[in-house]
Amino acid sequence: MIYLNGEFMPIEQARIPVLDRGFIFGDGVYEVIPVYSRHPFRLAEHLRRLQDSLNSIRLANPHDHQTWMRLIGRLVELNEAQDQSIYMHITRGPAKRDHAFPKDITPTVFLMSNPLTIPPQQQVSDGVCAITAVDNRWSRCDIKAIALLPNVLLRQEAVEAGCVEAVLLRDGFMTEGAASNIFVVRAGVMLAPPKDHLMLPGITYDVVLELAQAHRIRHEVRKISEAELRSAQEIWLTSSTKEVLAITRLDGAPVGKGTPGPMFARMYALYQDYKNQVMRTPGMGVA
Ligand code: PDD
Repeated sequence: MIYLNGEFMPIEQARIPVLDRGFIFGDGVYEVIPVYSRHPFRLAEHLRRLQDSLNSIRLANPHDHQTWMRLIGRLVELNEAQDQSIYMHITRGPAKRDHAFPKDITPTVFLMSNPLTIPPQQQVSDGVCAITAVDNRWSRCDIKAIALLPNVLLRQEAVEAGCVEAVLLRDGFMTEGAASNIFVVRAGVMLAPPKDHLMLPGITYDVVLELAQAHRIRHEVRKISEAELRSAQEIWLTSSTKEVLAITRLDGAPVGKGTPGPMFARMYALYQDYKNQVMRTPGMGVA
């Protein structure tokens, strides 16, 4: 079951007008929220980031916090999987085609749930390969915009190279992945690029930094150069659906020893513990 503009229905019945500005202009924002054992993970943080994205595109939030919580709760109930991936999508709505905002327009609200597929155990234990690519996106990558053509093309490039992700480089520095954030380990220190307009402020990125802080793992938040990326001991990617995954080959060359490193093993275990703790503590992931 999905939710569209006030109603829950099977996806086959869902219809939107072709003049929807999401379809015509990519004029909208989205979120992806993982649900573990029917508990939405970091829901409050996702809703806060949604609000930030909406503010950035000057679209009024169609619902208050309580309403979103209720709609998402109901959607989780109506879908069978224990672990789900909730997709939230809000566009400026349907109107005669004109770039500037139309007056008196009702936003389109679409929510769907799919079974959550986290990476298979083999990817966790062996790591995955990535390519590097020039970050040719716009300069507001902090907005979780539905217009994802550059990200689509970059991810496709990675897939055609037999890899899972493209690590993006802009002006000599690493920004993030096509659909993930990137961490680097050098000299036993976990490095994270600072949040700015050139990367999405990842919810998983925040969890990893919080875990590093809580468990006294040496870390620094600072810009990471291409040379530092290429000579890293470890590279990780993070996202709501991929969790934390080691990149063990970059552009065909092994990263460190070419196997997931010790810092990754530690962070992966901490992340899984944290996740399980959230699942056992009703309400914890649903602030
Ligand atoms: N993508 N950077 C980009 C460009 C992303 O698209 C994503 C997530 C992330 C990681 O953010 P988070 O940890 O909050 O999931 C970083 C989602 C999963 C997607 O588009 O499907």
